[in-house]
Amino acid sequence: MPVVVVANPKGGVGKSTLATHIAGHYARQGHAVMLGDVDRQQSSRFWLGLRPPQARPISTWEASGERLLLKPPRGTTHAVLDTPAGLHGWRSSEVFKLADKIVVPLQASVFDIFATRDFLDELTARTGRQPQIGIVGMRVDPRTIAADHLREFVESLGLPLVTMLRSTQNYVHLAARGLTLFDVTPTRVEKDLAQWAPLQQWLDG
Ligand SMILES: Nc1ncnc2c1ncn2[C@@H]1O[C@H](COP(=O)(O)OP(=O)(O)OP(=O)(O)O)[C@@H](O)[C@H]1O
Ligand SMILES: [Mg+2]
Repeated sequence: MPVVVVANPKGGVGKSTLATHIAGHYARQGHAVMLGDVDRQQSSRFWLGLRPPQARPISTWEASGERLLLKPPRGTTHAVLDTPAGLHGWRSSEVFKLADKIVVPLQASVFDIFATRDFLDELTARTGRQPQIGIVGMRVDPRTIAADHLREFVESLGLPLVTMLRSTQNYVHLAARGLTLFDVTPTRVEKDLAQWAPLQQWLDG
């Protein structure tokens, strides 16, 4: 069963946004997906509570505290784990041990890059190339100098920059309704779906 973990010790970079969308992507494909939340804030679980009953189902997984070690319920074919800012120590080791893929959202500011460098160095040192690590540029316009810096930085780490997602209120509005880009009429969110395509491919590859 593929387990995707979304992590970055920095706060507010888009972990929950990515985690809910990755779960939405699998749900869209008809998979039995669980969205687990290691975060004490329980943002992803809160979001699931907003999800309308007619939307494609995403189940939840009590993944906090000791119960993190429990396996997701039977019948689950895909698991996505949202994690909190500042996750470190044995808990992060436990989470990363479960992961087949780790998605790291990263904003294109020098401060974010600086704060994430140690985390990525530690992560690659600890896990090697298994699980696969993919970086997602968050709130970046690919045509800007900031985007170039992000590309250079990620390249210097030898990690793939899977895609860049622009800053748009679409993410804010969808989150407030328990939805993802994959739950609404595609023509309304065309630009964003195009930016997601490489990440969807990476997840399915
Ligand atoms: N690409 C984007 N464009 C516009 N707003 C975004 C984008 N990505 C995330 N946001 C918004 O930014 C805020 C923070 O995002 P999110 O909650 O996903 O970050 P987080 O890393 O999970 O935060 P925390 O560390 O607190 O758990 C949210 O209000 C979210 O809707
Ligand atoms: Mg969060």
